[in-house]
Amino acid sequence: MKRIKVFAPASIANLGCGFDIMGLALDEVGDVLEMTLDETADSGITIINDTDVPLPSDPEDNVVTPVIRKFFEMTGHRGHVQVRIVKKIFPGSGIGSSAASSAAAAFGINELFSAPLSEEDVVVCTMEGENLASGGYHADNAAPAVMGGITLIRGYDPLDIIKLPVPGNLYCPVIHPHLTVSTKQARSILPREIPMHTAVTQWGNVGGLVAGLCTGNIELVGRAMRDAVAEPFRKQFIPGFDELRAKLLGAGALAMNISGSGPSVFALANRADIAQRVGAIMERHFAQQGILSETYVVKVSNKGARLIA
Ligand code: HSE
Repeated sequence: MKRIKVFAPASIANLGCGFDIMGLALDEVGDVLEMTLDETADSGITIINDTDVPLPSDPEDNVVTPVIRKFFEMTGHRGHVQVRIVKKIFPGSGIGSSAASSAAAAFGINELFSAPLSEEDVVVCTMEGENLASGGYHADNAAPAVMGGITLIRGYDPLDIIKLPVPGNLYCPVIHPHLTVSTKQARSILPREIPMHTAVTQWGNVGGLVAGLCTGNIELVGRAMRDAVAEPFRKQFIPGFDELRAKLLGAGALAMNISGSGPSVFALANRADIAQRVGAIMERHFAQQGILSETYVVKVSNKGARLIA
């Protein structure tokens, strides 16, 4: 029997302009799984939820299951795996809850078999969990949850993931207001086609964001972290969205956007004191409307899924 403990970070997808192609890993926040492998037993997966977070009782509905099956399919390995979920980000938060569990499971099963898969293939396994959770093979949370840092999906077919440099003082205050917005719902309201001028705006910003990260120009990163494609349709789900952004920019934040498909919102700051102030304003904004929330004032992390025991 082999036993390990794995952590995978929460993540922010899209980063404003990079709909479905960009994401970053958050420091400190994430999921923890304890995984045990019995290579002598028949193949199977047992999932135990040791957290207060409600998760599907049927293992077929848990993201961990398709991730581990994909690993078995890709490698030909067999065995019985027990997965004990000991720490869990709240599902539907918009900070990559399903990707964190999926990445931890994919990384963990690969470690249990002495890492036959490359990091990119671990992302491929992780995407199976994302598909179960949201009905699509997105890697914008999966890639940073596995690899850490800031990732760009240059292409999906074939998968081509580029890890971008993370400037030193990049703080990401994030708030999860307790509102219900599923990724499926947030995707269903988006138009199938976008006007050329919207595409041009978005291309400019994606290029600016990448250039800002590569040159360590955080002001440029902030200026480019804007979304002309999804935000105009999705911000209706977040009460007082424009007003909140004005308050945060007034307090020194460099940008504010929806995290992934929401309802979490994140800001960008280049100083710890500004990040703290911005986090407090976010909290007050939702509290004034009677909406409960959790706030995380953390940095971007260069570390992805990893063993912690
Ligand atoms: N990029 C996705 C979306 C969310 O905005 O719908 C995370 O995969």
